[in-house]
Amino acid sequence: MRKTVQELLLVENTQLNHDNFRLVLQSESELPPIYPGQFVNVEIKKASEIFLRRPFSILDIDPAKKQFSLLVKILGRGSKVLTTYEAGDKISVIYPLGNGFKMPEPTDKVLLIGGGSGVAPMLFLSKVCGLNTDQVHVLLGARSDKDHVDISAYKANGNFYFTTEDGSLGEKGFVTNHPVYKSKLSEFDKVYTCGPNPMMKAVAADAAKAGVFCEVSLENMMACGFGVCLCCVEKTTSGHKCVCTDGPVFNINDLTWQI
Ligand code: FES
Repeated sequence: MRKTVQELLLVENTQLNHDNFRLVLQSESELPPIYPGQFVNVEIKKASEIFLRRPFSILDIDPAKKQFSLLVKILGRGSKVLTTYEAGDKISVIYPLGNGFKMPEPTDKVLLIGGGSGVAPMLFLSKVCGLNTDQVHVLLGARSDKDHVDISAYKANGNFYFTTEDGSLGEKGFVTNHPVYKSKLSEFDKVYTCGPNPMMKAVAADAAKAGVFCEVSLENMMACGFGVCLCCVEKTTSGHKCVCTDGPVFNINDLTWQI
């Protein structure tokens, strides 16, 4: 797949909640094909002590405007500095990286489960999966209502459900506590998930038990994004694989998780 290093123009930086920002980047040339689950590596020049690029999930694309957006969650110095960039700044980005989710069949009913910054590929997938609203179910989990991002731009893409650990929005508890998940998992043809490892492992175990196709997008630590530094390696049924080049999306049957 064609990947490119480009200086992109930041056209929008919007704070979505206390620690999540949407950065919209514009290319001078046509965008390459970009799929949900793929990511970018960003150089954060304003933090001169940070030498390595940082990976971020792609939240959305607008090919007509030659724009795509990133969901940037503040996790450390690099992401914090990136959120201080302003419209008009140029940012060096390598994209698109990794392999995206396998798209559903036209008759599939799908469940997309996101937590933390893992909501980004789920929202993107809800938009481009090509299914009708009643076939797409999106379950998003967070600590509290303040940690959820506004999904109104995606609402028409499917049926949305929320969980919070403190009960301030939607069902109280984890995504695995939600009634749609607990009682209807086996009714779905495909389950896709991205978020914290414990959440994805729980979903993978339940999907395997229910015999449902399931793909997870791993968030292993990444540095180079090119399969060189080996810091992102994951054990799979066919040996150790680089999450940055062989993933980040894996079918659960290819992982060695105890499911
Ligand atoms: S991030 Fe360097 S090998 Fe994957």
